[in-house]
Amino acid sequence: MNDPIVYLNGDFLPLSQAKVSVLDRGFLFGDGVYEVIPAYGGKLFRLEEHLQRLEYSLRGIRLDSPLEALRWRHILGELVRDDGDQSIYLQITRGTAPKRDHVFPEHIRPTVFAMATPIQTTKPQPAKAVTCEDIRWQLCHLKTITLLANVLLRQDAVDHGCQESILVRDGTVTEGAASNLFAVMEGTVVTPPKGPHLLPGVTRDLILELAETHGIPAAERAIPLAEFRRAEEIWYTSSTRELVPVVELDNRPVGKGTPGPIWRQMYELFQAYKQAFREAS
Ligand code: PDD
Repeated sequence: MNDPIVYLNGDFLPLSQAKVSVLDRGFLFGDGVYEVIPAYGGKLFRLEEHLQRLEYSLRGIRLDSPLEALRWRHILGELVRDDGDQSIYLQITRGTAPKRDHVFPEHIRPTVFAMATPIQTTKPQPAKAVTCEDIRWQLCHLKTITLLANVLLRQDAVDHGCQESILVRDGTVTEGAASNLFAVMEGTVVTPPKGPHLLPGVTRDLILELAETHGIPAAERAIPLAEFRRAEEIWYTSSTRELVPVVELDNRPVGKGTPGPIWRQMYELFQAYKQAFREAS
């Protein structure tokens, strides 16, 4: 049986033995935050950026970081010992209190859990997407484990025969149910600006960085849905799905209905960046 070693509250142990109390506030309230960090060739990709976002999420839910940056590095490094491609899931909840009470309990220790899962990053299949009302709350910039709305929205996409939902709030697009969005409009790569309605994606930032380095025009601005529908290209990004071209939105072709030239160029740049990262000592 596949029973990988995971990390829970200071111990490395087989997944089948990792247990958390039913009084854990993550279980009762969704009171916690998480990160998903890819590792290529056994090396954690953009680790600094993920750890910074973790601190930002922890601050946002008023939870002190239970561990120092060095300790995170050590723990996550232990989990990605083999040199295949993996993704680390890291979750911190406010901990287990003696009784269920919404108010922050005093003197409890956060629960810290981390595991590595193998991933296969092959060239993405062109995707179909569906637009949905963004029914989430005002703290979408924090990577909280309170993901029920995202789960329902992602399932909506699958129920419509699509791979991702494009979320719309007050007539402008925010992000995907589990990804950030890009549109190519008149040759410029555009993505919605950071704010409380979307997660500051690590992959999103890297795409903007690559665009700047390679002279591809890019902008961060609000995108009304009507304009988004007319985009020449649409992509979504995440740490596990990388950079996916959307060729159909609400059953209508995006641009020519095939992955566009700027997506192809950006995808190649992204892969080259990853390869250089793998090869760096
Ligand atoms: N999710 N927006 C949302 C709502 C997300 O859930 C994610 C990623 C992103 C992209 O962020 P990044 O590029 O840092 O992965 C944007 C992860 C992968 C998940 O929940 O599994």
